Amino acid sequence: MEPTALELDDIQSGVLRPRPTPYAAAYIAFRIDDRETGRELMKRVSKVVTSAANPRGPLADVSVSVAVTCKGLEALGVPQDAIDSLSWEFRQGMAARAHELGDFGESAPENWEQPLGSSDLHVVLVVVAPDQQQLAAARDRARETYRNMPGIKAIWHQDCHALETEREQFGFRDGIRHPAIEGSGVPGTNPQEAPFKAGEFVLGYRDEMRGVQRTEPDILGRNGTYVAFRKLHQRVAEFRRYLKAHSKSVEAEELLAAQMMGRWRSGAPLALCPMHDDAALGADPQRNNDFLFEAGDPGGFKTPTGSHMRRCNPRDASIAGVARIHRMIRRGTAYGPPLPDGVMVDDGVDRGIIFAFVGAFIGRQFEFVQSQWINDGIFIGADRDKDPLCGSHDINFSVPKKPVRRRLQGIPRFVVTRGGEYGFMPGLKALRWLGELET
Ligand code: HEM
Repeated sequence: MEPTALELDDIQSGVLRPRPTPYAAAYIAFRIDDRETGRELMKRVSKVVTSAANPRGPLADVSVSVAVTCKGLEALGVPQDAIDSLSWEFRQGMAARAHELGDFGESAPENWEQPLGSSDLHVVLVVVAPDQQQLAAARDRARETYRNMPGIKAIWHQDCHALETEREQFGFRDGIRHPAIEGSGVPGTNPQEAPFKAGEFVLGYRDEMRGVQRTEPDILGRNGTYVAFRKLHQRVAEFRRYLKAHSKSVEAEELLAAQMMGRWRSGAPLALCPMHDDAALGADPQRNNDFLFEAGDPGGFKTPTGSHMRRCNPRDASIAGVARIHRMIRRGTAYGPPLPDGVMVDDGVDRGIIFAFVGAFIGRQFEFVQSQWINDGIFIGADRDKDPLCGSHDINFSVPKKPVRRRLQGIPRFVVTRGGEYGFMPGLKALRWLGELET
């Protein structure tokens, strides 16, 4: 039987709780060279990972999360039938899913930053804190888990941050959207969206399709979930040049950027202010996500149906199927310094977003959105169009307009995949179980 209430003290805080604003974060990845030491790491990590039970005090906004890849579970000696009870896409690994995800050409796994996508990536620790000072303290605590352990090797790390403005590298306000999840105590950001069944985001609970995902043994999956993280390089100068070349004025540039995103850079949604920006609305969490699409704008004259955020969450728009079963928790964190305002030439510095998806179904959530909604347009009746901001290649985009739509063809690729992986974020008891394995 599934529990009647969410077992928050067993679920990692990084699964359910939105991050503070602003924040600094660090991703640290490990390879397990020795099984026993890997198990010891799991035991130690289970003591520093923060749970989703409502924390109080100064540490409320500091969190340590952990994800283990499929290769990591193998390195820990998890029995094969237990691994086989986890998601098929997770078992394949992200690099093997390159075709479905549109990762070819420059984005192909053979061009990824090492060791991303390789069989060396076993465990990823993510430390999040409101500022660099608290991050350093939290990192020190996390470091205790792998200090003096020669059987564990730190093989990759990535610092990232969310600025006070919450702007990502293209200049748009990010981090606006968070779904409400039954029993989590975390409010959603769209009052017009009913809370989601917890099973959409955590294993062991009823989901929107009335199913309950379980693993064998139950303890491995219970209160855990999947994460997809991707390092996405953003070509900011190219994006700016494109806007300028296709606009007659600065105002028109801003409008085109907003049409591609579905929101003005301030965060104000076109659905509520299609003609001009409204910075106060963009910054107001009570109002900036309080809208639907279909009701007032079925044709996409306010928010183009092909814009990034309408594609990624069509809300009530008339598409085949039910948009709710493709919802995900999505966290974007910037890496690299912002390109200074006004600079139109690439400075050669690597910058972009560390994109993290959290959800119980990699296939019908993350992979579906990436392959069907970002890299295809059939669902909106435009099979030759793709997401204008992060589509994979041959990108076309239409802006509905009377008497004729505006059609932009051959948009260059603004986002390149540098690497990524699927991970499993076990519950805290499951981490201890991993630490005590005797196989
Ligand atoms: C460099 C690449 C990307 C950038 C710069 C970017 C940026 C943004 C921004 C600024 C928002 C609006 C803020 C918000 O709603 O919280 C947003 C929304 C969203 N993005 Fe992206 N994104 C990127 C890639 C992706 C990818 C690859 C996916 C999915 C596979 C995705 C899925 C979503 C979803 C689901 C939303 C929320 C839509 C809603 O509920 O209204 N994004 N993105």
